Amino acid sequence: MKKKVFSILLVIAMVFTFSACGQTGGNDGDDADTGNGGGDTLKVGVSMPTQSLQRWNQDGANMKQQLEAAGYEVDLQYAGDNDVPTQVAQLENMIATGCQVLVIAAIEAASLTNVVDSAKAAGIPVIAYDRLIMNTDGIAYYATFDNNLVGRMQGEYIETALDLKNSAGPYNIEMFTGSPDDNNIIFFFGGALEVLQPYIDEGKLVVPSGQTAREQCAIQGWSSEVAQSRMENLIAVNGYGPNGTKLDAVLCSNDSTAQGVTTALKNAGYTAENFPIITGQDCDKPSVINMKQGTQSMSVFKDTRTLAARTVQMIDSILKGTEPEINDTTTYDNGTGVIPTYQCAPVIGTIENYQELLIDSGYYTEADVTPAE
Ligand code: GAL
Repeated sequence: MKKKVFSILLVIAMVFTFSACGQTGGNDGDDADTGNGGGDTLKVGVSMPTQSLQRWNQDGANMKQQLEAAGYEVDLQYAGDNDVPTQVAQLENMIATGCQVLVIAAIEAASLTNVVDSAKAAGIPVIAYDRLIMNTDGIAYYATFDNNLVGRMQGEYIETALDLKNSAGPYNIEMFTGSPDDNNIIFFFGGALEVLQPYIDEGKLVVPSGQTAREQCAIQGWSSEVAQSRMENLIAVNGYGPNGTKLDAVLCSNDSTAQGVTTALKNAGYTAENFPIITGQDCDKPSVINMKQGTQSMSVFKDTRTLAARTVQMIDSILKGTEPEINDTTTYDNGTGVIPTYQCAPVIGTIENYQELLIDSGYYTEADVTPAE
């Protein structure tokens, strides 16, 4: 009799156990086919650093649109204006409210170690988005653009525009890169100097301020105002101006810093007829307008629709229990080892190709990049 009762209780226990696994949307692979394949809708947390810099608004909108189209529920959060404690709190909330995957564009590369460790402990895969997150083995994958190539494109543009290979020089240049807490500047600034450093070494390119170290050229928070202030100081100390000390080029690692530099140079009397070469990145709307007006020379287009699509593919693979497609297994060591990465391809943007690149592709309308009357 006792054996019979025990067998009945064992069967009841087994029924409850297996039915509970089926409801957690576990990695049986079926639910994630559409994100909502019969189980609970899978929820993805998307953490963006700010809305004050244009590109992140597009990244967030693209991620939300493409994830929802794939059947996922999306918790999209912007961390104030690059506020680290806010980003940490939002991520903690995503972990607590059942997000199955986290996608994070970090404000500071080294500020999310603990919260990403918590995600790992909760069995939640984390994808580092555009910017690498350091010192945690909780990063499953990294989705970004070829950041070294972005820098090389900027350096090569200056090399070509000044004909450094053939001309005698010397040419004067100043250099700006991004936030010192953004791991990307190692690759942006490093890529540009791979091209420019030999010319600096031979004296064909001269940096009158002597500020050539990444730390000296870094602009906190990628702020246009901080970049403008540094450029104003460089102008005052070195006497740059249309009738003063010659300034042939300013390397800027992205558009928000280029915009600050451009404002300072305009205030110093430069016009489209005598503006130094100015590089950038992101093809922000104000910078496209500056290219059309002849003050910014180039930018680098990183189609955020492409990066979002790649990230959604990664999420689909992860939730199906398969390996996402990656194309780099050597470049990005986050302090705990190299993170498997997919690098999307950046494209140079200039006045010559912005129409095809940005308008014809539907990224912007012509009105988006037409200055207000
Ligand atoms: C970088 C990003 C760039 C740049 C900058 C400002 O990490 O890769 O596209 O715009 O942040 O947000």
